[in-house]
Amino acid sequence: MSKRVITFGTFDVFHIGHINILERCASLGDTLIVGVSSDELNFSKKQRYPIYDQESRLKIVQSLKFVDEVFVEHSLEKKREYIEFYRGDMLAMGDDWKGRFDEFNDICDVVYFPRTPSISTTEIIEIAKKF
Ligand code: CTP
Repeated sequence: MSKRVITFGTFDVFHIGHINILERCASLGDTLIVGVSSDELNFSKKQRYPIYDQESRLKIVQSLKFVDEVFVEHSLEKKREYIEFYRGDMLAMGDDWKGRFDEFNDICDVVYFPRTPSISTTEIIEIAKKF
């Protein structure tokens, strides 16, 4: 039976760490579905809007050859609904989230991948600000 993998993230100022995790997620199954967090959700989490708006972030992620479906994640509280609606057999996340999604083990397999070292959106923004 074909396996559907789901993952979530902001994917702002797209970088190699994003590519690596999406590639790893895709390698777990046959179909990769990516929930891209909305601009408002980011504002509520970090008190700042992403540099790239949600339409741009969605378009970037959707254009990757190993991504099959994308949708906008509007609420952190709806993870379970999203997993069920998109029929995820597996939820895969970077290990900065380790343990935080274990509650969904009752509806799918939950996997955490090591982050790519030494790169993040926050760090890129900080470096860019210095110029
Ligand atoms: N990720 C990763 N390795 C990195 C950066 C991110 O594996 N170096 C993963 C995260 O663990 C997550 C996904 O990429 O599963 C999306 O992360 P996101 O928060 O959008 O990227 P960050 O670069 O971590 O952004 P920020 O600095 O704003 O937290």
